[in-house]
Amino acid sequence: MSAKKITVVGAGHVGATCSQLLSQKELAREVVLVDIAEGIPQGKGLDQWESAPIEGFDARVYGANDYESCEGSEIFIVTAGIARKPGMSRDDLLKTNAGVIRSVTNEIKRVAPDSIIIMVTNPLDVMAQVALETSGFPRERVIGMAGVLDTARYRSFIALELDVSIEDIQALVLGGHGDTMVPLASYTSVSGIPLTQLLAQDRIDALVERTRKGGGEIVSYLKTGSAYYAPAAASVQMAEAIVKDKRRILPCAAWLQGEYGFHDLYLGVPCMLGENGLERIVEVELDEEERAALATSAEHVTSTVSALEALQS
Ligand code: NAI
Ligand code: 2OP
Repeated sequence: MSAKKITVVGAGHVGATCSQLLSQKELAREVVLVDIAEGIPQGKGLDQWESAPIEGFDARVYGANDYESCEGSEIFIVTAGIARKPGMSRDDLLKTNAGVIRSVTNEIKRVAPDSIIIMVTNPLDVMAQVALETSGFPRERVIGMAGVLDTARYRSFIALELDVSIEDIQALVLGGHGDTMVPLASYTSVSGIPLTQLLAQDRIDALVERTRKGGGEIVSYLKTGSAYYAPAAASVQMAEAIVKDKRRILPCAAWLQGEYGFHDLYLGVPCMLGENGLERIVEVELDEEERAALATSAEHVTSTVSALEALQS
């Protein structure tokens, strides 16, 4: 199963890595890479297409500066904007990226009104809200990528700590994409064995802390930008679940309408992804501490939304 067309908006680090992965996995017949920078999407798209004979894929990948080429795309992965630099918080990106996301979403609405948007640009939860409001799309078609990445980081750290295969680690990270995210030790297991039976609490706490700061850890190494290999892999995994109607349950940022006790905000929760985008939100039981941590994370998202409103008034 594959889509006819998938567009990636933003041909920077995350976006270009997404288009290469989408093409290699043949998730669409056409993969379009769009950016405002002249020549960049065309050059990267052509370079990726020239890897097709070596990698053996037939997805036609190419770049463009206009949205006419994206007409009829089933999915848009939106990575356009500026990325975090050392010393910058995700929220510092707020105003610039809100403007970018508004203009990008208006174009998406114009050329592909039935499409599904996977938002990646930071601050993630708020940019997903900007896209939802600008597009007027139902919540099923505007989903944010963060939880898959945060969960992957958590799983990768657990695999290193226990020296076991990452394939056997199941985990769940909820909440907003930021330092207040909520990795749930109670829903983490290794081949069904609860993590708490394999690791002492202080080690679990250290892995949770490293996960919360996972984005910052990469920024501190790269110095001139933020992570992109794992973020792109996470975005493409979401697209794959939709294109193949896999009905996978993945942690994604979804527009909550009462789930987990929250209304009208994007927050990372377990979501079933299928051909319609967000098929449903899965509610899991949380203990008092986890519920409080989720509330703190929700407050952070709400305060960022308020900060954006203040910047615009
Ligand atoms: P980058 O700077 O390498 O690429 C951004 C691209 O967006 C640039 O090529 C730029 O020309 C383009 N752009 C800017 N305005 C545009 C517009 N109006 N229309 C089309 N393209 C436009 O940045 P990178 O590393 O690719 O990160 C992209 C975004 O993704 C950042 O906001 C970053 O914080 C976010 N991110 C989010 C993650 C998540 O978990 N949700 C993980 C990693 C990155
Ligand atoms: C990350 O978590 C910067 O949000 C991005 O790597």
